Amino acid sequence: MTRSALKAAIAAGAAVTLLAGCASINPFAKPDPRWADFKSWTKVTEGTEPTGDPSRLLGTVHKGENGYRDVYVNDIGKEALLGDAPNDFPEGSVIVKHQFDNKADWEAGKNGDVTVSVKAADDGTRNKDNWIWAAGMKSKAGPSEFCATCHTAALSLYDSDFVFTTAGFLKKHAQ
Ligand code: HEC
Repeated sequence: MTRSALKAAIAAGAAVTLLAGCASINPFAKPDPRWADFKSWTKVTEGTEPTGDPSRLLGTVHKGENGYRDVYVNDIGKEALLGDAPNDFPEGSVIVKHQFDNKADWEAGKNGDVTVSVKAADDGTRNKDNWIWAAGMKSKAGPSEFCATCHTAALSLYDSDFVFTTAGFLKKHAQ
C-alpha cells in the first residue's frame, strides 16, 4: 500500500469510529420510548438516603460508593419489585437507575447518568438472555456480558431476577 493509500485507509477508519461514536451521543437522538418518561414512574428509593455500597459489589461502577442513586420501575415491573422474594419480573419490566456523583447533585437533580435494565423476553427461567441493558438515556439497549455478569449476583444475594433493588434489598439495607 502506498503512503497516501494508507493515510486514506486510516482516515476512513477514523471516520467510521467517529460516526460510531456519534451514534451513541447524537444530540438529535431521542431516548428509547421504553424509558423516556422514567421520572413519572414509581421511585422505589423515595424516602431513603441511597448511597454507600450495601451489597459490597459496586466497586467503581454506578459512580461507586460515594455516589447517590435513585431507582425507578415502570408499571409492568412494579409488583415484582415491591413484592416479597422471589422477585421474578414479567416481560416488559424496565428499571432505571439515575445516578449522581455526590449528594449536592442528587439533591439538585443535576448531572445525572442513566443506566437501564429491560426484561425483553421471558423464557420462564432466570436467564441473562431475557435481559438487555443500556448505559445512557439515549443509548441503545442490547445484551451486555459486563452488566449481566455482575447483576447475576442478585439471584443468590436477594433471590431476585437480575435486579438488586427490590423490597427485600431496601428493607435489609435500610439505615
Ligand atoms: C460490578 C457490578 C455491577 C455492574 C458491572 C453493573 N451493575 Fe448495575 N447495579 C449493581 C448493584 C450492586 C446495584 C444495586 C445496588 C446499589 O445501588 O448499591 C445495581 C443497580 C442497577 C440498577 C437498578 C436496579 C437494580 O438492579 O438494583 C440498574 C437499572 C442497573 N444497575 C443497570 C446496570 C447496567 C445497564 C449495567 C451495565 C452498563 C450495570 N448495571 C452494570 C452492580 C453492577
